[in-house]
Amino acid sequence: MSSDSIAVAVIGARGKLGRFACEWFARAPGFDLVASYGSDVDWRRSIADSGARVAFEATRAGLGFEHACELLERGLRPVVATSGVSIAETTELDARARAAQLGGLVVPNFSIGAWLMMRMAEEAARWFEGAEIVELHHPRKADAPSGTGAETARRIVAARRDAGLAAFDPPSPGFPARGAARDGVPIHSVRLPGLYAHQEVLFGAVGETLALRHDMASPEAFGPGITLAVRYAATNSGVQRGLGAALERRD
Ligand SMILES: NC(=O)c1ccc[n+]([C@@H]2O[C@H](COP(=O)([O-])OP(=O)(O)OC[C@H]3O[C@@H](n4cnc5c(N)ncnc54)[C@H](OP(=O)(O)O)[C@@H]3O)[C@@H](O)[C@H]2O)c1
Repeated sequence: MSSDSIAVAVIGARGKLGRFACEWFARAPGFDLVASYGSDVDWRRSIADSGARVAFEATRAGLGFEHACELLERGLRPVVATSGVSIAETTELDARARAAQLGGLVVPNFSIGAWLMMRMAEEAARWFEGAEIVELHHPRKADAPSGTGAETARRIVAARRDAGLAAFDPPSPGFPARGAARDGVPIHSVRLPGLYAHQEVLFGAVGETLALRHDMASPEAFGPGITLAVRYAATNSGVQRGLGAALERRD
C-alpha cells in the first residue's frame, strides 16, 4: 500500500455495481482495495480491522442508511451508492459523522453527466409549467422508479420551493399510465433489453418544451465520480448528498 493512497473496502462486492467498483479501485491510481464483501460474509465482524478508511456500500435498496450508521460506529467513512437513503436519513448521517469527526457521501448516481442533468433540471424547474421524467433501464433493474428518477423529481420540487414558486400540478389520480408521481412530478419507467441506463427530463410551457437527456452505455461512466466521492469522503467531515460537494472541491 502506498502511503498516500486511500484504503477502501467494498460491501456488496458481487453485485453489478460492487464488482465494477472493485475493478475500478484495483486499476485507478490512488486507491488500495483492502477488503471486499459479498452477502455471504458478515462484514461487520472484520471491516474495522481491514485497514479500510472508506467503505463503498452497494447492496440492496433500503439498506444504505443502516449500513452507513454501522460503518460510522466502526470508524469508517461511508460512500453510499445504494438507492433509497432519504433526505432525513442523510441529515441523520451527517450529524453522526460530525460527532465522530468522520466524512461520507450519499450518491444516488456517480455519473457526472447524470449529475449535470439533475443540476440543469433544477435550473429549468423555475421557468416551466410542468415536468415529467422518463427513465429507461435494462430489465434486470430491481427498483422502479430508479433512484436517479426519484432524486431528479425531488430536486425539481425543491428548486421550485426554494424559488418561492408553487409546485407543479400532479397528474390526475386514477390513471396509472400517467406515471408514478414522485413529489408531484410523474416518472415513467421503461425496462427493455438493449437499454443500459437512460433518462429524459421533459419540461413544458406554453408554446415550447425542453428535453434534457442523459445516456449511459456502461458502468465506466461511474468511475470518475467514484474516484471523486471516495476522495471527498476520505478527507472531509460530515455526510453530504450527491456528487456536487465532491465535484466542487475537485483538485
Ligand atoms: N449510486 C449509483 O450510481 C448507483 C448505480 C447503480 C446502482 N445503484 C444502486 O446500488 C445498489 C446495488 O446495485 P447493483 O446493480 O449492484 O445491484 P445487484 O447487482 O443486485 O447487487 C447487489 C449486491 O448486494 C448484495 N447484498 C444484498 N444484501 C447485502 C447485505 N446485507 N450485505 C452485503 N451484501 C449484500 C447482493 O448479494 P447477493 O447477490 O449474494 O444477494 C448483491 O451482490 C442498488 O440499490 C442500486 O439501485 C446505484
